[in-house]
Amino acid sequence: MEEVGFAVVGVRNFADSYLHNLEELEAEGKMKLTAVVVKDQVKNAEKVRELRHKGIAIYSSYESLLKDAKNSVDIIGLPVSIPTHAEMAIEGMKAGYDILMEKPPAPTVQQLDAIMKTEKETGRFTSVGFQFIHSNTIRKIKQFILEGKLGEIKEIAAKGFWPRFKSYYDRNDWAGKSIEMGKLVLDGPMHNAFAHYLNNMIFLAGNDMQSSAALKRVRAELYRAHSYIESDDNSCLEAETTTGTKIYFYVTHVPEKLRHPYMEIVGTEGKIEWHMEEEKTKIELNNGQVIEMDNEGLNPHQEVFRIAADKKLGLIEELYCTPENTRSFTVAINGAYDSAKKIKAIPQDLVEEFTNDEGEYQTVLKEIDDLIDQAFAERKLISDLEQVDWAVKTEWINVENYTAFNPFK
Ligand SMILES: NC(=O)c1ccc[n+]([C@@H]2O[C@H](COP(=O)([O-])OP(=O)(O)OC[C@H]3O[C@@H](n4cnc5c(N)ncnc54)[C@H](OP(=O)(O)O)[C@@H]3O)[C@@H](O)[C@H]2O)c1
Repeated sequence: MEEVGFAVVGVRNFADSYLHNLEELEAEGKMKLTAVVVKDQVKNAEKVRELRHKGIAIYSSYESLLKDAKNSVDIIGLPVSIPTHAEMAIEGMKAGYDILMEKPPAPTVQQLDAIMKTEKETGRFTSVGFQFIHSNTIRKIKQFILEGKLGEIKEIAAKGFWPRFKSYYDRNDWAGKSIEMGKLVLDGPMHNAFAHYLNNMIFLAGNDMQSSAALKRVRAELYRAHSYIESDDNSCLEAETTTGTKIYFYVTHVPEKLRHPYMEIVGTEGKIEWHMEEEKTKIELNNGQVIEMDNEGLNPHQEVFRIAADKKLGLIEELYCTPENTRSFTVAINGAYDSAKKIKAIPQDLVEEFTNDEGEYQTVLKEIDDLIDQAFAERKLISDLEQVDWAVKTEWINVENYTAFNPFK
């Protein structure tokens, strides 16, 4: 079998994990890392030496990769900054390559539509690296739902509590920004770190293995507790699909205690509980049947590369995660910003900023963990809870025919 040639743009941060995953996957004989783009070859001299030693071609710009790598590269991996996803994916496809782009696909629905238009015009594909859409449990849960075993899906809710320190926001120029160099980033917890868990819910509510649910309406609240960032860090959202499933989402980067994402799916025939850690899943049906499963050792990050390679090799018909089936995720995010209108700063007397035991500069919003637990349990947004003075009510946005996000209109 022919091997699929992968290029990776970048070597730092998430690009580094692309390089590790590809290195491990090479042993399976389906794919090979053949080229890497490194802009700053002085700062990254050691990495460049190591890659060259392995026979990997180093390019100093994306443009030179596009121009000169046709013979060795089939798919270009883009673990790059959020505001550059769309333009780099489009340029790459126009230059004759297939693309593996990182999540979130793009800040606006117009950009996603432009990517899909380019896929059609060029005959190339873009796969989106939302790894849980490639995971063992999310795919099995979807199958289970589609077989009707959970009955009609009434609601899906998820919550997550991940502190993000100053070092996280300092790692590049766009982290914690809404706009960077005039381009939308929307780097809040719903659109970046926890994006998977919103996308999972919208995917699970979709009516076949390929599609995500279409959304009818969205309302959301975006808050900021960190004193030194511009984007939201504590947000919640409620959405309704066109088939009536309710979606609830609560995420914070300023919790008192770290807790990994957790999701509940409630159907007329039972309930599913899903934990991000090892994808521990429990299905409890009304007839008393209980089914448990987990990731069975399948690393969803690596599955993202396998599926893109399988598509390139013609071994599968359809990619798992695409611009088309992540469009509703982007509609939810754009609708959330339309609904909230502004990111509301939380009064600083409710916030603590301090250097923690690991030497990290941390921000905590007092009592947020209990508030999120209560809002999650009652399926309310934070402003619907009675005792929260800083919370602001927001309006529902109809997103059924959503074609353009413009926060300035
Ligand atoms: N799937 C997941 O769970 C997951 C986890 C983490 C991150 N991500 C996603 O991965 C993406 C990257 O995140 P990050 O935090 O790693 O971003 P980052 O800190 O901005 O790092 C991006 C890397 O790409 C390089 N790069 C960007 N544009 C380039 C260009 N035109 N030519 C050459 N190199 C270029 C950068 O090089 P320089 O250093 O020289 O600028 C840097 O090495 C984001 O979309 C993020 O949401 C996904």
